[in-house]
Amino acid sequence: MTDAARMVARIRWQAEACRELGSPLYERLLHCVADDVLAGGPAADVLAGHENDPGPSALALRLMGAVHRLVLERRAPGLALFYPSVGGAGEIDEAWPALRGVLAVHRDELRSRLDQPPQTNEVGRAAALIGGLCRLVAHRPGPVRLVEIGASAGLNLRADRFRVALPGGRGVGPADSPVVLDGAWEGSLPPLDGPLEVVERFGCDTSPVDPTSEDGRLALTSYVWPDQRARLERLRGALTVAARVPAVVTRESAGDLVRRLELVPGTTTVLWHSVMWQYLEEGERTEVLSRIDDLGAQSRDGSALAHLQLEPRRRTPSADIEVLVVMRTWPGGEERLLGRAPPHGVPTTWE
Ligand SMILES: C[S@@+](CC[C@H](N)C(=O)[O-])C[C@H]1O[C@@H](n2cnc3c(N)ncnc32)[C@H](O)[C@@H]1O
Repeated sequence: MTDAARMVARIRWQAEACRELGSPLYERLLHCVADDVLAGGPAADVLAGHENDPGPSALALRLMGAVHRLVLERRAPGLALFYPSVGGAGEIDEAWPALRGVLAVHRDELRSRLDQPPQTNEVGRAAALIGGLCRLVAHRPGPVRLVEIGASAGLNLRADRFRVALPGGRGVGPADSPVVLDGAWEGSLPPLDGPLEVVERFGCDTSPVDPTSEDGRLALTSYVWPDQRARLERLRGALTVAARVPAVVTRESAGDLVRRLELVPGTTTVLWHSVMWQYLEEGERTEVLSRIDDLGAQSRDGSALAHLQLEPRRRTPSADIEVLVVMRTWPGGEERLLGRAPPHGVPTTWE
């Protein structure tokens, strides 16, 4: 197989993944991109030199993110007609000539953006975080410090300002929140009435995004697939919340943040993370876990600690990987499996 044929195979694999994960638009367009690479068209020109990029670097998604950004910036009006993210409703089967034109006209800019890894911040994962916090404060009432490693733009550091809407008008969080997580919880619901008071929110990421800047908002939006309306709506709402509710995300690795983390009397410190553990080297994972153990050992009733996570894991060594909500709390260090969720967090099914 030639290098180009291998790249085409990876683009087609991504097209199928988009179909399975609910983006018929990207499924169609990525198959057209693959055909165009084989035909030596503008897609081949834009992607030249990336034939041997490793599969996990998601070349196809980097390309489509760079194109989506042009659409969001209103610089690709022909293609915008097919992108629901900007109101387009054109027939998917007719979108390719417009994308082909964008690839030809914006070749150099698109090539320069291919070096950037896709950076997302999935607001739906707050469904797991909010439920975990509800369980925590029902059992241990009091103010919470919310600390997130691998926080991306830190949108979920504002999770207490999102609404989980439940049937019958019930729910958690402000009823007028710009983020409404509908159908977000299934199974045995967490307690709804414990008051959730977040008194401090901060986090870290090795590539943080500023959700209050235009560049940051564009970056986050461009990597959401344009025909995934619910994800886009959640993201837009969370960007509005982020503009009102400050939270600092420092450019720092998870290991560095936990090393400087201390407990504060009169509060529960909640260390939260979602879909980031796989990016840590073994050494950093060990360092994070051992610092959590140290903090746990220092924990007293007046300065409690919880380690809450939504991460791909196995329930038992021989079980399949699932995305599981797990919480460990101190004093005591008890660990509980709380629920499971699809990769984007909604719906979280409580056990
Ligand atoms: C898939 S994203 C998930 C972001 C966010 N937690 C969410 O659920 O939307 C993984 C994040 O982990 C960050 N990351 C990777 N390695 C890291 C490290 N060693 N320390 C801190 N963050 C890291 C990446 O920059 C990226 O923002």
